[in-house]
Amino acid sequence: MILQGQVALVTGASRGIGRAIALDLAKLGAHVVVNYATNAAAAQETVRAIVESGGSGELALFDVSDERQVDSGVKKVVDQHKKIDIVVNNAGVTSDNLLVRLKAEDWDRVLGINLKGTVHCTKAVCLGMLRERYGRIINITSVVGQTGNAGQSVYAASKAGIIGFTRAMARELGSRGITVNAVAPGYIETDMTDKLPEDLKQKFLRSIPLGRFGSGAEVAAVVSFLASPAAGYITGQVIGVNGGLLMA
Ligand SMILES: NC(=O)c1ccc[n+]([C@@H]2O[C@H](COP(=O)([O-])OP(=O)(O)OC[C@H]3O[C@@H](n4cnc5c(N)ncnc54)[C@H](OP(=O)(O)O)[C@@H]3O)[C@@H](O)[C@H]2O)c1
Repeated sequence: MILQGQVALVTGASRGIGRAIALDLAKLGAHVVVNYATNAAAAQETVRAIVESGGSGELALFDVSDERQVDSGVKKVVDQHKKIDIVVNNAGVTSDNLLVRLKAEDWDRVLGINLKGTVHCTKAVCLGMLRERYGRIINITSVVGQTGNAGQSVYAASKAGIIGFTRAMARELGSRGITVNAVAPGYIETDMTDKLPEDLKQKFLRSIPLGRFGSGAEVAAVVSFLASPAAGYITGQVIGVNGGLLMA
């Protein structure tokens, strides 16, 4: 129970990787705030699973792309719990298409949720962390933000932006005991990857040295480590969880 007494906010924790992260942090003793945007039933299921395994959690409905919603969502948590020790910026969406077919709205939506959402949540929690002189900020980027991928220009740009933002914040907040790191999953089985065409899945599979797709729990294990006191001397890093797809 190394996170006993800590409060963690996980964005996009109703499903997929976010849910796995929420469950893992709760198992380590953190009180977990389960953020979601639309899928209340799935978010309630995450909280139910946390409580069922002996942990503590609550729901927080806000759209990370809307700064005012983020500010009031974070304020509610801080009013009740006094602090947020850990934030995991996980909420994310894709809009896969060739650049010539992408519309301005697609760019605005993906950058708004993935990149600006990460900025909004970090800004909202970091004042409290600065006061506490402690914090763990973990941003979920993607191997696609490191390598690029045809048909994923806006997604790759948003995820590469998260890496630059992570490093800038690590330098800005380091002197106050706050670490800022990014986790870059490869191909993880969730709703997001479920909708990819079968031939593309097989193409990915052939390029993964471990010969299989990853699970949300395997990403969550790395996030939990970065959130723990044991990772106190790690900041500004991008940790790949990609089965060897990218070795950097
Ligand atoms: N799956 C992969 O292979 C993979 C690989 C690399 C990186 N990633 C990254 O990992 C993260 C999680 O991906 P996933 O595969 O678990 O996705 P997912 O299954 O599609 O789940 C997305 C989550 O984000 C939430 N969300 C979407 N828009 C939001 C908004 N505006 N405000 C707040 N929450 C919002 C969703 O909430 P609702 O349920 O309420 O809609 C949901 O909880 C993303 O950042 C993704 O880019 C995934």
